[in-house]
Amino acid sequence: IREDSPAVGDYIANYICKRINEFGPTPERPFVLGLPTGSSPIPTYKALIALVKAKKLSFKNVVTFNMDEYVGLPRDHPESYHTFMFREFFSHIDIPPSQVNILDGNAEDLIAECNAYEKRIKEFGGIELFLGGIGEDGHIAFNEPGSSLASRTRIKTLAYDTILANARFFNNDIAAVPRMALTVGVATVLDSREVVVVVTGQRKALALSKAIEEGVNHLWTLSALQLHPWALIVVDEDATAGE
Ligand code: GLP
Repeated sequence: IREDSPAVGDYIANYICKRINEFGPTPERPFVLGLPTGSSPIPTYKALIALVKAKKLSFKNVVTFNMDEYVGLPRDHPESYHTFMFREFFSHIDIPPSQVNILDGNAEDLIAECNAYEKRIKEFGGIELFLGGIGEDGHIAFNEPGSSLASRTRIKTLAYDTILANARFFNNDIAAVPRMALTVGVATVLDSREVVVVVTGQRKALALSKAIEEGVNHLWTLSALQLHPWALIVVDEDATAGE
C-alpha cells in the first residue's frame, strides 16, 4: 500500500526497472513484459520514461505484449489502445517498434489473430512479468465477470458496466464505446512468471476487497491471482476503502 497514485507509479516503475536490469536482457534473450492501458498505469509509465531518460533503464532488449484492444476501432483512433500505448509510453522510450505486440482489433479473422497472439507469446518463452490494471467490476485485461479462469486470448463482449466506465474516454457518449474487445485470457495472465497489478482510487475498492479477501471466483477475475505463486498488487490508500 502506497499513499497515492504517483507513489504507486514510482514503486512499480522502480520494481520493473530492477527486474529488467537483474534479468540482463540481450537480443537473443529479451525480457518479455506484458502491459496494460487505462488511467491507473499512467504514473508508472511516466516514472519508467524518467528512468529511461536518466539512463537507468533501457527497453532495447525488451519485447512487450499488451493485454487487450477494442474490436473495430481504427488503429489511429485517439482511444484505441494502440494509440494510447504509443502516446503514453512507447514514443518516449527506446523500444524498437518491431518489439511491440498489440492485438489487432481490425484483423479480418479475429479468432486467428487471438490464436496467433498466444502462439507468439509462447515463441518468446512466455511472459516474464505481466503488469495489469483492473476495472471497477474486478476484470483483469478485459476478462469480464463470468470469464473462465482457464480462458486464453479471445474475443470478449464488454460488460455494460465497463462500457459505462469507459464512456468517459469517448466524450461520455455510451454509443461510441466499442461493444467488443480482444483480450488475453485469465490463464494467459496466470502463465506469466510474475504478475504485478496496479489498483488505485476508491472506485476500485470493492473489486480489490472481493478479489483478495473472498475466494477465487470467476465473477471478480482478479481473484484468480490468488492461484499465482508470484503476484504483487500495488494499491493506494483510497483503494483500501472497501468493506
Ligand atoms: C480497461 C482495460 C483494463 C484496465 C481498465 C482500468 O477496462 N481493458 O485492462 O485495467 O480499463 O482502467 P482505469 O485504470 O482507467 O480505471
